[in-house]
Amino acid sequence: MGVADLAEYPWDAVAPYAARARAHADGIVDLSVGSPVDPTPPVVADALRAATDAHAYPQTMGTRALRDAIARWYARRRGVAGLTAENVLPTVGSKELVALLPLLLGLGPGDVVVHPRAAYPTYEVGARLVGATPVAADDPADWPQSARLIWVNSPGNPDGRVLDVPALRAAVLRARDLGAVLASDECYAELGWDAPWDAEPIPSALDPRVTGGELRGILSVYSLSKQSNLAGYRAAFLAGDPELVARLLTARKHLGLMLPLPVQQAMVAALADDAHVAQQRERYRTRRALLKPAVEAAGFRIDASEAGLYLWATEGRDAWDSMARLAGLGILAGPGHFYGEHFPQHVRLSLTATDERIAAAAARLRASATAPV
Ligand SMILES: Cc1ncc(COP(=O)(O)O)c(C=O)c1O
Repeated sequence: MGVADLAEYPWDAVAPYAARARAHADGIVDLSVGSPVDPTPPVVADALRAATDAHAYPQTMGTRALRDAIARWYARRRGVAGLTAENVLPTVGSKELVALLPLLLGLGPGDVVVHPRAAYPTYEVGARLVGATPVAADDPADWPQSARLIWVNSPGNPDGRVLDVPALRAAVLRARDLGAVLASDECYAELGWDAPWDAEPIPSALDPRVTGGELRGILSVYSLSKQSNLAGYRAAFLAGDPELVARLLTARKHLGLMLPLPVQQAMVAALADDAHVAQQRERYRTRRALLKPAVEAAGFRIDASEAGLYLWATEGRDAWDSMARLAGLGILAGPGHFYGEHFPQHVRLSLTATDERIAAAAARLRASATAPV
């Protein structure tokens, strides 16, 4: 399969549910996508504005200031000390990196790319793009010998599952046994809710407790889209094994995968400022505290969802039936069918709606719990 064979986005299937939800007298509450709704922090927007003279080509590896800022951020926020400019690389948002990593690593037919059972769909897209075989498996014991790239995602999208240090360590050890690259997609790491993640940092795959101090074969992938309301800037990066980083840099130079200089400057500002991240986390905490009990009161069970931007919920019936019920309340969710074949009875509800819309959803869900059937 090549790029021409990629399927249409499946969102067309959701259109009838969206139409029904839009017909609600008080309007739709769209919880189907994870696109931030809060403003880009002024500290970041100001840095972008100050950098609009960008007459020269930017470097694919990023400015020294950006690479240093990324390394410092890993030390300060992720418990990963000792990274240098050689360990990091900016990416044009992380979706392109997720989609292109198998290509950039030279994978092809006969190679296996492992990804989580409940998964962001782009892991599979990247595998198929190069003719590799995607395999959905969470347990390292199930990862096949032919695995060349293993994606883990913590906190997970769609399920909000966190991999603790022992789980990440098991993943690293198994990847090493297999000779596979372990890529850890960590873009929700600042958004921990349930104990212990309300109080302690969510670990990175680069954490020395995970790696034993040896970064070989390991990459951490991060994005500022969510924590900094920068999805429209396309601001992300990876970090880890310097040999892998150098290989990826060479390939990315040839492909022109470079980040606009003003965005690089904005990222430096974003990475140095923890206050806006804390403020955004509080917004999501408040929304989650309102929505989660209302979803439960309406008869859903919420699985995992201990961190990240989503509630992964089930009523024990097909996701399309839950989608229909929610659409009747004017709420649009995402069906579990979109995240692989293993969770056909789950829906994903995003916390990325305004306070007012989240409150509306919560009120409707609670009313539906008491309404006569
Ligand atoms: C798990 C995961 N990885 C990567 C991305 C891509 O983020 P971006 O391309 O905005 O950096 C997303 C976006 O929703 C995601 O959920």
